Amino acid sequence: MRQPFPPGFLWGCATSAYQIEGSPLADGAGVSNWHRFVRTPGRVLGGDTGDIACDHYRRMKDDVALMRELGLATYRFSIAWNRVLPSGRGAVNAAGLGFYERLVDELLAAGIQPMVTLHHWDLPSALDDRGGWLNPDMPDWFADYAQVCFKALDDRVPMWVTLNEPWVVADGGFMHGALAPGHKSAFEAAIVAHRLMQAHAKGVQAYRAIGKNRIGLVVNIEPKHLPADASEYDRHAAGLADAYMNRQYLDPALLGRYPHELREVFGEAWPDWPAAEVEALKVPVDFLGLNYYTRAVVRFDPKAWPVPAVPQRQPGGIYTETGWELHPQSLADTLVWMHERYGGLPLYVTENGAAFYDPPTAINGRVDDPLRVHYLRTHIAAVQDAIQRGADVRGYCAWSLFDNLEWALGFAKRFGLVHVDFQTQRRTPKASARFYAEVIAAHGANL
Ligand code: BGC
Repeated sequence: MRQPFPPGFLWGCATSAYQIEGSPLADGAGVSNWHRFVRTPGRVLGGDTGDIACDHYRRMKDDVALMRELGLATYRFSIAWNRVLPSGRGAVNAAGLGFYERLVDELLAAGIQPMVTLHHWDLPSALDDRGGWLNPDMPDWFADYAQVCFKALDDRVPMWVTLNEPWVVADGGFMHGALAPGHKSAFEAAIVAHRLMQAHAKGVQAYRAIGKNRIGLVVNIEPKHLPADASEYDRHAAGLADAYMNRQYLDPALLGRYPHELREVFGEAWPDWPAAEVEALKVPVDFLGLNYYTRAVVRFDPKAWPVPAVPQRQPGGIYTETGWELHPQSLADTLVWMHERYGGLPLYVTENGAAFYDPPTAINGRVDDPLRVHYLRTHIAAVQDAIQRGADVRGYCAWSLFDNLEWALGFAKRFGLVHVDFQTQRRTPKASARFYAEVIAAHGANL
């Protein structure tokens, strides 16, 4: 018998601004790096853009009504910096900020607690033109932007997140270049990682000066496992992969140091940041958010860069449309690992979900997605296991409320619990949404 989820455990869904909103230039918004990136030929599959996406900017009220029907207790969304500060800095665009004020009010009226991410990858182009996350002034610009949001919304927003997945910004945007702004440089990625953590620290400090609620950081963790016949090389490579992806951000933010392995990962590109500067990245937070999707069983491969490790496909494993193995046990283990390594902080699963094939149009008004139901059931049960093992997990957000723009993969990969027909914008709750609504209603007792 499993012990019940704690009272007050928050059930929710997550989205991000550029992936769902559409109307990217409405009401005086500035151009964002993603608005620009999707217009660069060859960058996004099928030439898809966020120009319409889920049209959430215009359908927000109906969307909140749908969230209420599902019984969500919390909704995690992000603010588009370029709507609030069209030039990234300076003058506030009241109309852009107004959208988020209306969204928050609508959520509260529906009894749904807003959880707000300040930066989920979309950046005003005006800042991108100044080097974006490479610019040493970015942490201050981020803190200024954060303050504008805190002042406008902290009276109604109980939970804030500074950054979503800094690893993806640095790795996807600057190391491998699959995401905006599309650079490929270890030298740049190392600098960007540091600026992101400085921005996080300054954002939290700005919050302490004026905020009354809670603020935290969201990271993506992908545990690195070894094959049964692992060699010494495999072991070493897995350690490097773990440092690069899983500890590069949490260690400085919580322990005030970078993992020593990063020197080897980055080689001559690793800047020797002054110790005091690294120590200053450690600023107390109120919670940590975990985005968990999969694990990786890795082998040493000298051709892989910057970490000499490549994931191995597991015979008999179940894989999603993005090629990620289903491994709920690793969600439980990761939560326990975070609990033990980072001082027992309150934890939230801020994203967890899977892309499986769903047809572009609902058939007879239905979308049956048994694999996604299985994914949710097993992963939510894993959260319960982690709680039983002592981790202080206080909430779970499924990724994602809607099928949406899956970044460089365009609309081809569907992660939604609610199906979106991109021709008509019709929303159809999938079987997984109905299952999740039942889980929420039963507070997890029906798993
Ligand atoms: C991101 C989401 C993304 C999801 C699936 C996470 O890395 O935060 O924006 O859509 O994973 O790839």
